[in-house]
Amino acid sequence: MTQDELKDAVAAAAIDEIAPHLERDTILGIGTGSTANRFIDRLARLRDDFMGAVASSEASAERLRGHGIEVFELNSVGTVPYYIDGADEVNAHLHMIKGGGAALTREKIVAACAERFICIADASKRVERLGDFPLPVEVIPMARSYVARELVKLGADPVYREGVITDNGNRILDCFEFMIDDPVAMEARINAIVGVVTNGLFAARGADVLLLGSDTGVERLT
Ligand code: 5RP
Repeated sequence: MTQDELKDAVAAAAIDEIAPHLERDTILGIGTGSTANRFIDRLARLRDDFMGAVASSEASAERLRGHGIEVFELNSVGTVPYYIDGADEVNAHLHMIKGGGAALTREKIVAACAERFICIADASKRVERLGDFPLPVEVIPMARSYVARELVKLGADPVYREGVITDNGNRILDCFEFMIDDPVAMEARINAIVGVVTNGLFAARGADVLLLGSDTGVERLT
């Protein structure tokens, strides 16, 4: 199977996972990226079975609205029963690196408000140790150089993601050469640097369910 077919398969599996639990007043949390897009496209077929969604990016909000799915502000919703999103890397503990699409901060906020985080990913995202994928860090623009110097002290090789401004008006530093042995500790350590808005480690709040697509089918890991 191609990677796109695997993304389709996990999107379909996520629909199967949530569909029996949808009610007319259900508001879902929806992530960002090519795998999340496939989920959104399939969710459109169920749009009369639930109330709407909170989106983790302007791009996902636009796609949801394009399918006639109402998009709500998180502040008016409170909690969501499910947050469904992809990942750039995921380990055996369902800790993830996310933010390849620069949506990490809103993704982390919606995930924090979710009762269950369902991660959908093709098998290429499954790793033993996080860090081959460069860890994104969202920073306040004026703090970019300071944060980069602090990240070097932690052992990373941060590279400014040229031309990218996040939905929150901030910048992204991608940390290369940064293998992460203790994702929970490193997530907190990076967040403690002044000027950091969020980092792409989703470990303190990892996924609850991983739907992992490979040539042998979709594996459900918890
Ligand atoms: C966006 C993300 C995405 O979930 C992550 O980049 C995976 O994307 P894709 O499904 O396109 O591989 O964190 O900020």
